[in-house]
Amino acid sequence: MLKARIIIDKERTVGEIDKRIYGSFIEHLGRAVYGGIYEPAHPHADDRGFRKDVLELVRELDVPIVRYPGGNFVSAFRWEDSVGPVAQRPKRLDVVWHAVEPNEIGVNEFAEWAKRAGSEVMMVLNLGSRGIDAARSLLEYCNHPSGTYWSDLRVSHGIKEPHDFKVWGLGNEMDGPWQIGHKGAEEYGRLANEVGKSMKLFDPTLELVACGSSNRRMPTFPQWEATVLDFCYDQVDYVSPHSYYGNETDDLPTYLAQSLGMDEFITAVANACDFVKAKKRSRKTINLSFDEWNVWFHTAHDNSVRSPWTVGPPRLEDIYTFEDALAVGCLMITLLRHADRVKIACLAQLVNVIAPIMTENGGPAWRQTIFYPFLHASRYGRGVALDVLVESPVYDNKEFGEVPYLESVATYDEGSGQVTIFAVNRSQDDPVLLECDLRSQTDPHVVEHVTLEHENAKATNTKENPDNVAPRTISGAKVENGTLTTRLPALSWNVIRIGVRP
Ligand code: AHR
Repeated sequence: MLKARIIIDKERTVGEIDKRIYGSFIEHLGRAVYGGIYEPAHPHADDRGFRKDVLELVRELDVPIVRYPGGNFVSAFRWEDSVGPVAQRPKRLDVVWHAVEPNEIGVNEFAEWAKRAGSEVMMVLNLGSRGIDAARSLLEYCNHPSGTYWSDLRVSHGIKEPHDFKVWGLGNEMDGPWQIGHKGAEEYGRLANEVGKSMKLFDPTLELVACGSSNRRMPTFPQWEATVLDFCYDQVDYVSPHSYYGNETDDLPTYLAQSLGMDEFITAVANACDFVKAKKRSRKTINLSFDEWNVWFHTAHDNSVRSPWTVGPPRLEDIYTFEDALAVGCLMITLLRHADRVKIACLAQLVNVIAPIMTENGGPAWRQTIFYPFLHASRYGRGVALDVLVESPVYDNKEFGEVPYLESVATYDEGSGQVTIFAVNRSQDDPVLLECDLRSQTDPHVVEHVTLEHENAKATNTKENPDNVAPRTISGAKVENGTLTTRLPALSWNVIRIGVRP
């Protein structure tokens, strides 16, 4: 049995957790929209054709913000095609994902879906094939009450009240050569500044997200962030790193250590932001919107698939394993540990496409393995993130050096009066005996210890067996003299909730 120790002091905080750290992403890609959130012929479709079973699962995850409509898709998107009477909307070739876009779901339908899901929309602008004017007109269409060309057009489309979208993405992965309208850092930084300027002239309270690096292996990282922000620092509020992780070489210790790479990435991006802050003698801090993160490798080859031109061809439908859930747990913990700088994060994506929710056309919807760590963090990881001291035995890894067996963070939510410990035991062989010093807590007591474990690291949830990998409550956690002790099974995700008196 391995032994680890955590010291939790609720006075020592990392920062307030912005609930938008539990955001997600829906792109017009594969069956995310058509066959995912929308399937009018489905027995569970509501009055607008949205799948109620999917909506229920999204509400269960409690996703405060959903990024839309892309992704790579957005860089060739003509938003005007997606509004007005559906019968008159053009069908377009989506060359990015090799599909037909029928435009049955567009800006207004998605806003309605998000409302039903209990989410805010982060609208992403096309800064690939388009620019300032398309951005300005979309903003006026969405957010201006009425009395002007674009706002009256929205009203004529039956949407009387403005959507009032607050968070806007200034393009998608513009550093990537694969992106339609890919740009150099100077070129993009200048454009982001001009688009940002015209948007903030309309409404200075908008929150704007500039494209960061598509991953930390991009040759232009981190100069990209420094150059882009040099141009648009005053207009934007966030920069957006993206990153996907995977176990391509079937090397579990290395796979589970990849959250250390995310940790370094976040620190480096924050440092790049602060470098520009210092250079500009600015008092403003740019935070991070980590608006694409997840495990994605089971279908990575799908990127170049040329399927026949159809609506909603299945793409990027990763079937997640139990070990993927552990990896997502480690990544979620890492995001929480940076709650002072990561204010928005989007699990990419939400339904069918590299997603926690899977559906069958005409059939059921079910929870993939990665649903659970996200659910637990979203449900219990509210309030403030605590700066915990973790003492854990380590293993040696050729890529990441010394890796702690225990990956952990704690949160404190004044509202519920609970401290929650999130912990992954990376060891494949040994449980961890966890001792947790709750020094500053009054009357701490265990509310619940939930764990996600499975004897088979490759276990999945399927339509036939949707609860194969599912969390359960375990006993044994106890608090004595201000110290919590509990056992974390080998290879497990754990949520330990502790009630405390304020
Ligand atoms: O989420 C899938 C794709 O990954 C997105 O379209 C793109 O932004 C990223 O490269």
